[in-house]
Amino acid sequence: MAKKFNVVVVGVGAVGIEMLRVLRQRDFPVAQLKVLARSARDIEVDGVTYPVRKAAPEEFDGANLALFAGTEGEKGAAVTYAKEAISRGAIVIDNGADFRMDPKVPLVVPEVNPDDVDWNEGLIANPNCSTIQMVVALWPIYRRSKITRIIASTYQSVSGTGRSAIRELREQSPLVLDGRLDEVRCEAYPHRIAFNCLPQIGSFKEMEYTTEEWKTRRETHKMFHDDSIKIASTTVRVPVFYAHSESIYIETEEPLPVEEVRKIMEEAPGVVLQDDPANSVYPLPADAAHCDDVFVGRIRKDPDIETGLHLWVVSDNLRKGAALNAVQIAELLIEKEIL
Ligand SMILES: NC(=O)c1ccc[n+]([C@@H]2O[C@H](COP(=O)([O-])OP(=O)(O)OC[C@H]3O[C@@H](n4cnc5c(N)ncnc54)[C@H](OP(=O)(O)O)[C@@H]3O)[C@@H](O)[C@H]2O)c1
Repeated sequence: MAKKFNVVVVGVGAVGIEMLRVLRQRDFPVAQLKVLARSARDIEVDGVTYPVRKAAPEEFDGANLALFAGTEGEKGAAVTYAKEAISRGAIVIDNGADFRMDPKVPLVVPEVNPDDVDWNEGLIANPNCSTIQMVVALWPIYRRSKITRIIASTYQSVSGTGRSAIRELREQSPLVLDGRLDEVRCEAYPHRIAFNCLPQIGSFKEMEYTTEEWKTRRETHKMFHDDSIKIASTTVRVPVFYAHSESIYIETEEPLPVEEVRKIMEEAPGVVLQDDPANSVYPLPADAAHCDDVFVGRIRKDPDIETGLHLWVVSDNLRKGAALNAVQIAELLIEKEIL
């Protein structure tokens, strides 16, 4: 009989709901499933009703695996309950940013650095959504020829902020179309998101880059085990519901022909190549929404820099960018008999 596990999912917002969906779709070996949030109620996902219990330390008794998809920060789910879950014997996989840069916490994308799970001390972090799709596409290129520089510009969907921002774009859009601008309320973002682009994700930190932009750099360095890569990004929120898009410029040590990069992408795990520009074939967030893969296209040489390449990378931030990656880490733990 295959082993089954007592699983706790914490949080039933945008990521938590997707987590329940992914566990069911991938037939994850669940013995008992418990769903926790700030308040108790029943929720329905794809016709299945899940009873939600109010989170408390004792709710982790008997858990083997705890998948955290709760709000970040001081009063957030992981800061409040992750250690409680670990002390009760569970392995925690956290979607938030609270522990990602902790040197004792592996930050893992299974296609990139699966062996980092080996040194976990009970907690494994899922990287930031826009970083995950970027590293899935870039790691196979890096393995062929070291990437020395990355410049990324992102076009990130509102579901990356969570359910409140999805609601806000829904509510603002008809008001803007009707010209009722004075009725538009902005709570999720400092400005209106409907029919707009906001060059701010997170708050402004060192050197006037945002917290999201620092994540692109620091999390990539940590997963690639290479702090020497020059990385800068501009992260932009756009009025798209699901899937992030990224324009990525890289420089490699050796010049790589476009055809070779296309072949690398075709063979890369988790990547789908959509690159036939003459027929307007390239990745689109509307197509990538609710899909598992990282879609790559528009691969082309830089006109001036011999070792420079441009790529367009799109993926669903709630699937590979969050819930799917977390469940894949759990599957890896089973494969390695860590769980
Ligand atoms: N959205 C993305 O694309 C994405 C991608 C990667 C990582 N993440 C990370 O994933 C996490 C969840 O994001 P989200 O977008 O799903 O947020 P969300 O839609 O705002 O949902 C947050 C959920 O967390 C629960 N929660 C908050 N504080 C809690 C606590 N102290 N104890 C138990 N549950 C608590 C809330 O419970 P109630 O329902 O009872 O209020 C809610 O269900 C965040 O850390 C986020 O940074 C998100």
